[in-house]
Amino acid sequence: MRLATHVLGVEFQNPVLLAAGTCGFGMELVDVLDLEALGGFVTKSITLERRMGNPAPRVAEFDAGMMNSVGLANPGLERVRDEKLPWIAANVHRAKVLVSVAGHTVHEYYQLIEGLDPSDGFVGFEVNLSCPNDARRDSVPFALDPDAVTEIVSGCRARTERPISAKLAPNDPMLGETVRRAEDAGADAITLVNTLPGLLLDTDSGKARLGQGAGGVSGPALRPAGIRAVQEARSATRLPLLGVGGILAPEDAVAYGRAGANLVQMGTATFAAPRAATDLIAGLERWGRRRGVAAWGDLCAGNDGEVR
Ligand SMILES: Cc1cc2nc3c(=O)[nH]c(=O)nc-3n(C[C@H](O)[C@H](O)[C@H](O)COP(=O)(O)O)c2cc1C
Repeated sequence: MRLATHVLGVEFQNPVLLAAGTCGFGMELVDVLDLEALGGFVTKSITLERRMGNPAPRVAEFDAGMMNSVGLANPGLERVRDEKLPWIAANVHRAKVLVSVAGHTVHEYYQLIEGLDPSDGFVGFEVNLSCPNDARRDSVPFALDPDAVTEIVSGCRARTERPISAKLAPNDPMLGETVRRAEDAGADAITLVNTLPGLLLDTDSGKARLGQGAGGVSGPALRPAGIRAVQEARSATRLPLLGVGGILAPEDAVAYGRAGANLVQMGTATFAAPRAATDLIAGLERWGRRRGVAAWGDLCAGNDGEVR
């Protein structure tokens, strides 16, 4: 199966990316993974200031996945611009990089785009509107506030010519409307989904298993919510969709493709098996050969080969 796919104005050598927050800035993985074999990766979400993150423990496993409340721990705009992006520009060529940004306020998103846009080494931005542990206005995550989606995406759009993907939430009862808002505001793609709010309790003590209390569910438990969200988004837009949530096996990626995803991202699976993403790429090739599917792009519902 031909895996190369043209999305966001560039050729991805295959549709498999590492998801934001699960691969740092790439350099953390060079000893365990051939980054250049990937379709690409999304950086950890960058905030204006350096953030230390939430109290430990920040991750907890359960039978169907993982919970995290990392709290967007990251080195902040300046160090990313001065250290991380130059490393990416010098070392990552075939894999395509999206830089993820997350503001505390609407204005912070604009400052992040302005501060990062002049740097080299990346194709576009993923605007994280949906972190369940952060990024909210009046206690509502930006992704669930349609006016905030419009304001943030249109303001980012005005500040960069690079492609922007808006990362939305799985628990959005008006997802189609939110997708349309993002598109009307100038998004070039939609990433679905971020983690789903959840809570794990220790049964003896009754205390939360994460230091912060609640967190975000990822891994296999999230997969049906992710696939549904992609399908719903596909019926609302013809923009490219980046599907993420619970992908382990080639069949999971194919299911996202069938629902309408043009690219897929993998996160939690890589914690247990650091080479899970390169295994997925090989597995997709095998899957296509066995099924006689000529190209990844043939799977994706609703695109008619007109992916922008
Ligand atoms: C430890 C951890 C940290 C994450 N950090 C971010 C982040 O900084 N920005 C973001 O947009 N998503 C973040 N995510 C969400 C992932 O990018 C992805 O949307 C989610 O985990 C679902 O995919 P998965 O089931 O393959 O992990 C994080 C997820 C995990 C598990």
